[in-house]
Amino acid sequence: MTIIPDYCLQHLNTLAIAAKAKFFVEVRDNDELSAALKFAREGQLPLLVLGGGSNIVLADDFPGLAIMVKHAGIELVDEDENFVYLQVGAGENWHNLVRYCLGFHYWGLENLSLIPGNVGAAPIQNIGAYGVELKDVFSELRAMEIQSRVVVNFEKDACEFAYRDSIFKNRFRDRYIITHVTLKLHKSPHNMIEYPALKQALATIPEADLTPQNISDAVCEIRSAKLPKPEDIPNAGSFFKNPIVSNEDFENLRQRYPTVVAYAAGAGHTKLAAAWLIEHAGLKGEQRGGASVHKQQALVLTNTQQGSGLDLLALAKYVQERVFEQYAVNLEMEPRVYP
Ligand code: FAD
Ligand code: EPU
Repeated sequence: MTIIPDYCLQHLNTLAIAAKAKFFVEVRDNDELSAALKFAREGQLPLLVLGGGSNIVLADDFPGLAIMVKHAGIELVDEDENFVYLQVGAGENWHNLVRYCLGFHYWGLENLSLIPGNVGAAPIQNIGAYGVELKDVFSELRAMEIQSRVVVNFEKDACEFAYRDSIFKNRFRDRYIITHVTLKLHKSPHNMIEYPALKQALATIPEADLTPQNISDAVCEIRSAKLPKPEDIPNAGSFFKNPIVSNEDFENLRQRYPTVVAYAAGAGHTKLAAAWLIEHAGLKGEQRGGASVHKQQALVLTNTQQGSGLDLLALAKYVQERVFEQYAVNLEMEPRVYP
């Protein structure tokens, strides 16, 4: 394990922001993680836990230790008639895991194909796409408590998963580092294809012919048509969550904007498509410094011109203000801002 001072993180965040960490280290197991945490504590350094860097905004240089969690391995730890339980190291790439599961015809991860980043970050915001969230396939996780360096287990209910949310973004924010995640996957057909765009893409395939692979292929195709690849156009996916409002507020909004896109979101609530709100506030293509609102997907802010984290935050603030002015709806940022 090597602790490197003054380390540029540009290639380790998908917005390609050229911020530096005061110290950087990669850890491959719990002994290395523990040693890194000890180093940080002795130097009174703040921590930046890094996976694939696809959901962070580096607003400035980070004045502490950036720890990249590289725990590897995919292990079948249990199996019964209906399910397999896979324990996966936090440092495994998410989409490689999806591909691994497709190879074994396990059902469960196909809708979550092509989400950037690593397995250890997936529980943080309960990643979701095309009608499935991590919580639907989650069994438990292991994490090291930063203060005590003791490893503990979290079962599903303890994680308090919700839309783009978990206990690790709230009460236990910055308290644990996830080292392993155990997923519970179906061994026999179990498709989840109600999401309209996915259903439409698969309409010509008879239900009996659906496989995790052909569902994954359809998801990849839809995603590739909509979302810019970070390698080509640096971005962090959706920059804002889709806001959840009361049905009453939604009805008022729909009176004024009959074409507003929205989805039912449980008892008395409606989830609005933030992309629609942003596009119809005339903000596509809006720029601040090197940052712009993507022209194909208004929920994505891009860093096309080697902008800084501050350019992105200035643009985000402007979008939030304009959306609030026009619709009286608050947009909450999805990526986490550091330092
Ligand atoms: P990072 O960006 O490295 O970290 C994100 C947060 O998690 C940070 O606060 C970090 O400290 C914390 N963290 C990371 N690893 C650990 C760990 N081991 N222990 C504790 N904390 C940790 N998200 C979706 O939900 N659905 C999508 O469809 C989706 N599409 C995307 C498309 C694009 C093009 C991009 C760029 C992003 C997209 N995202 C999507 C967002 C992103 O991919 C997810 O949030 C992903 O889980 C982030 O993983 P990461 O490893 O890159 O995390
Ligand atoms: N739309 C517009 N203008 C646009 C783009 C979209 O009006 O520029 C409208 C369209 O009518 C579309 C609706 O908005 O029907 C929703 O768009 P889309 O299906 O692209 O999904 P999204 O709500 O923008 C969410 C997630 C994505 C996830 C997709 C698929 C959030 C914040 N975002 O995006 O997750 O991949 O659904 O499930 O929930 C991410 O979190 O980073 C992310 C990319």
